[in-house]
Amino acid sequence: MKNIVVLISGNGTNLQAIIDACESNITAGKVTAVFSNKADAYGLERAKLAGASGVFIDPKQFETREAFDQELMEKIDNYQPDLIVLAGYMRILSNGFVRHYLGKMVNIHPSLLPKYPGLNTYQRAIHAGDEEHGTSVHFVTEQLDGGPVILQAKVPIFDEDNVEELTKRVQSQEYRIYPLVVDWFVNDRLEMKDGKAFLDGNQLGIHGYAEE
Ligand code: GAR
Repeated sequence: MKNIVVLISGNGTNLQAIIDACESNITAGKVTAVFSNKADAYGLERAKLAGASGVFIDPKQFETREAFDQELMEKIDNYQPDLIVLAGYMRILSNGFVRHYLGKMVNIHPSLLPKYPGLNTYQRAIHAGDEEHGTSVHFVTEQLDGGPVILQAKVPIFDEDNVEELTKRVQSQEYRIYPLVVDWFVNDRLEMKDGKAFLDGNQLGIHGYAEE
């Protein structure tokens, strides 16, 4: 059984979607540990309810980002993970941390990358008058939100939309695509080579896997 470690900072609804998919065998693998940089992240409760370890590491106890990441890395590696899943982990990663898990760490970002890396993607899409928005699962590289995209889901933006409504619409798609990508990875169908994502040996395009 492949070991999955999840990093969160908040509610953990994506974590829950992955736990549920693993428990119902829709996704192969098992979430063994969840780490948070926020003490009150509800995702830590979700971890414990699922029988996984839920661990808070306090960034205030460390003088540098590198020192925090080093501690996090050592704790994570005790679980010998096959895959690291960032699910709403809202902390910038040091380059050393990214390099340590290169090719086995994925993130979900609420935009149709390469559009809107960074924060406030919903506001930016609405403000720009975009007709669609979405979410992307990608491999994590040293470039923030810049690693190769694996899978995206698109949703429409309606005239009367606000950030809350659009967030709900996008997140409902996240719960579908993230467990699927995790399943691909733990079944050895997905890999990153030379900064590109491959599924079943086929190189994925700039928007990842597309059925079109
Ligand atoms: C998710 O919607 C994810 O796309 C976003 O945080 C949310 C976490 O929700 N991630 C980022 O913005 C990363 N830059 P959750 O804790 O309920 O899964």
